[in-house]
Amino acid sequence: MEKITPASAVSVQNLVKQYGNLSAVDHMSFDVSAGTCFGSLGPNGAGKTTLIRILSGLIKPSSGQAWVKGIDISKYPEIVRRHIGVVSQAMTTDLDLTGRENLDIYARYFNTEKKMRTRRIVELLERIGLTDRADDLVATYSGGMRRRLEIARGLIHRPSILFLDEPTIGLDPQSRRVVWELLQEFRQDEELTIFLTTHYMDEADILCEQIAIIDHGKVVVLDTPEGLKKNIPGENIIDVTIEHKKEILSTENQTELPHIDMLTSKLSGFTFVQDVSQKKLETRSSLIALQIYVTNGVASIPVLMNQFQTWGYQVHTIGLKQASLEDVFIHYTGKSIRKEEGQKVNFFIGAGVPRKMG
Ligand SMILES: Nc1ncnc2c1ncn2[C@@H]1O[C@H](COP(=O)(O)OP(=O)(O)OP(=O)(O)O)[C@@H](O)[C@H]1O
Ligand SMILES: [Mg+2]
Repeated sequence: MEKITPASAVSVQNLVKQYGNLSAVDHMSFDVSAGTCFGSLGPNGAGKTTLIRILSGLIKPSSGQAWVKGIDISKYPEIVRRHIGVVSQAMTTDLDLTGRENLDIYARYFNTEKKMRTRRIVELLERIGLTDRADDLVATYSGGMRRRLEIARGLIHRPSILFLDEPTIGLDPQSRRVVWELLQEFRQDEELTIFLTTHYMDEADILCEQIAIIDHGKVVVLDTPEGLKKNIPGENIIDVTIEHKKEILSTENQTELPHIDMLTSKLSGFTFVQDVSQKKLETRSSLIALQIYVTNGVASIPVLMNQFQTWGYQVHTIGLKQASLEDVFIHYTGKSIRKEEGQKVNFFIGAGVPRKMG
């Protein structure tokens, strides 16, 4: 069955990838419009790489279907591969070759004629700012330089869709911004559709028109960054950290503490409270961190302070903020993506030496 949907660069229906009992991709369905940037945002183990591996024809789905440019990826992976570029999560450029040689080897794979190949390589090296270093070994490149080279390699055959798996992981803030600018420029100049995975909120916010928040292999929610922020309840968020006074006086009475569900239900009794979610804290178990979505902003703070006092809680911190993508993530998954971020080990150690341990 072919799917003729030229406006959709990528289309996924009920996609599943099963590893034993684990659903790495669990009935995902979505469409990516041509010429847009689509972000799949999720923590470690959410299924981001598995999804990209299916869409780029590296692994077969257990069930469901995926089309790239209207072509069934399971049936015609070779054809699909001509239309797509892939920048994988781990660095895969050859350290023992120069930047130019890395690009040339890849271009030969696509049977590009020599003159065309040379011209494209010169053009790309210029675009990624590596003309001066083109004939140095990649082993001497920084992580950011190597990442830029990998992006150029993914574009060598002028694909119309570029898949990037965590394109800026492990890069310093300045190199990350350089990669973002590069992707925005390439997208415009080469009429690219970009499909990227990330666990960086700012990256998804800056680059993507559509963001799918994924967790445990499922698309939890899909919308524009603005839509995601707007659709979480309440106009403002109160971030509060509280501790029950009994807990402060004695750590032996844990079972007597008011249950968190009871606290949530009590808070929900206020007309200005639209929703309450709990952030998991690892540092001290007696601390409770809540996000309270309210409609009346700063006016709710004294009311809540009083109420927590009455219920026997000491308020450690309380603050008001506008919704961010991080709040959206907590709202839909009940956990912070940053906690997962911290577990990720930087895999750029020294000049261009890849050691992925994440
Ligand atoms: N070949 C495999 N065999 C068994 N389990 C696998 C395999 N590949 C992935 N998984 C599991 O599938 C789940 C999703 O993995 P995946 O690599 O897609 O996550 P991810 O979102 O890319 O995570 P990360 O942010 O760490 O890169 C994980 O629980 C992982 O352990
Ligand atoms: Mg991954």
